[in-house]
Amino acid sequence: MNVLVVGRGGREHSIVKKLSESVKVDELFVAPGNAGMESHATCVPIEETERTKLIDFAKNNQVSLTIIGPENPLLDGLADAFQAEGLRVFAPRREAALIEGSKSFAKELMMKYQIPTASYETFTDPIAAKQYVNEIGAPIVIKADGLAAGKGVIVAETKEIAFQAIDDMLVSKTFSDAGAKVVVEEFLVGSEFSLMAFVNGDNVYPMIPARDHKRAFDNDEGPNTGGMGAYAPVADITEDVIVYATKEILQKAASGMVMEDRSFTGILYAGLIMTDNGPKVIEFNARFGDPETQVVLPLMKNDLLQVLLDVLHGKDPQLEWEEETCLGVVLASFGYPDAYRKGVVLPDIDGDSFIVYAGVEESDNRFVSTGGRVLLVGAKGKTLGAASRLVYECIPSNEELDGFFYRTDIGKIEEGAPG
Ligand code: AMP
Ligand code: GLY
Repeated sequence: MNVLVVGRGGREHSIVKKLSESVKVDELFVAPGNAGMESHATCVPIEETERTKLIDFAKNNQVSLTIIGPENPLLDGLADAFQAEGLRVFAPRREAALIEGSKSFAKELMMKYQIPTASYETFTDPIAAKQYVNEIGAPIVIKADGLAAGKGVIVAETKEIAFQAIDDMLVSKTFSDAGAKVVVEEFLVGSEFSLMAFVNGDNVYPMIPARDHKRAFDNDEGPNTGGMGAYAPVADITEDVIVYATKEILQKAASGMVMEDRSFTGILYAGLIMTDNGPKVIEFNARFGDPETQVVLPLMKNDLLQVLLDVLHGKDPQLEWEEETCLGVVLASFGYPDAYRKGVVLPDIDGDSFIVYAGVEESDNRFVSTGGRVLLVGAKGKTLGAASRLVYECIPSNEELDGFFYRTDIGKIEEGAPG
């Protein structure tokens, strides 16, 4: 079978790498991909937003399955457009991707189907929102309703910060339409983890849990990023918790979407906090997590293409996992998540690790940076500590790096600090 992956980041490289191991894949394409993926797939210079070109490419190259990585094309209806042309996709339609695209929709779904989550109210009026903040008190969480590239969530330690976030979103319109509505949410305390599942309608097949590290700097300091590193599985999240979260969260969400006539096909991602009252949802995503995918897929024993086909055919893919831990550390451009330099030559990384490329391009036969998150260095080990040692042995020290930085404590924070 010929397979197309849409996207260009580390998540897509990881998907492509896993698919390249499949005996069932003939030709593997990625659009647009990045230079680091070329050893695993053919990069096709079509942007994620170029719908007609993507469809024509899929038709002209006998692509039998397309996997869409990022959220933006999903919410633009790329899966719908492929299906309307009779092309098979493993991705949710726009109406189902709304579980990620609108936080107020996701919250309503959770209320209706009794899925454990933080208590909340939704507002368009800043005065009413502030009044609610006054009633509940700080810390409190302010969320832009729509997609905001990971920047739409403000964990406010004080009421003043909450008021400012409300004004930024509802009055100054910092996130334009995405922030025209805000969700004001109870602050939850506990360690965070992510649970992703292959979903098709009522059928839910969970993967192993992963833990992302979202803050830019060591000790969970600095601004929120797309994710600076991750590991899987997560030892402090017990099997009982996974079973509970699968039944009470992922299954209820999938079945709820069917009931709402928004049946979901694709990867359902639950961002969870392990509170004293059990796991609670902080967000749903309609796609593979980044960087969680980079540490989860390497542990999957199954052929990924077979899994996707089984799930699409309503068959249990019988997921099997290696009994190891996989850990990955992101190398980011200096300045990220704010403005950063581009075109810097990548450092040498060698040793017993693998590299997943995100923001790179080729220039004079060398890889140079083009993005905030540049690559992820990953390794598998018998324990979290063993995987961590393998990874960190391969990366030059932060002092030696010119133009890049990384966190030195991925996997070391067992208790997720707030934020
Ligand atoms: P998100 O952009 O939705 O992934 O949220 C960014 C971060 O905000 C999460 O990783 C959490 O650390 C934090 N967060 C979101 N919602 C809550 C909440 N209700 N309570 C505590 N922390 C939260
Ligand atoms: N790692 C968080 C996300 O993919 O949204």
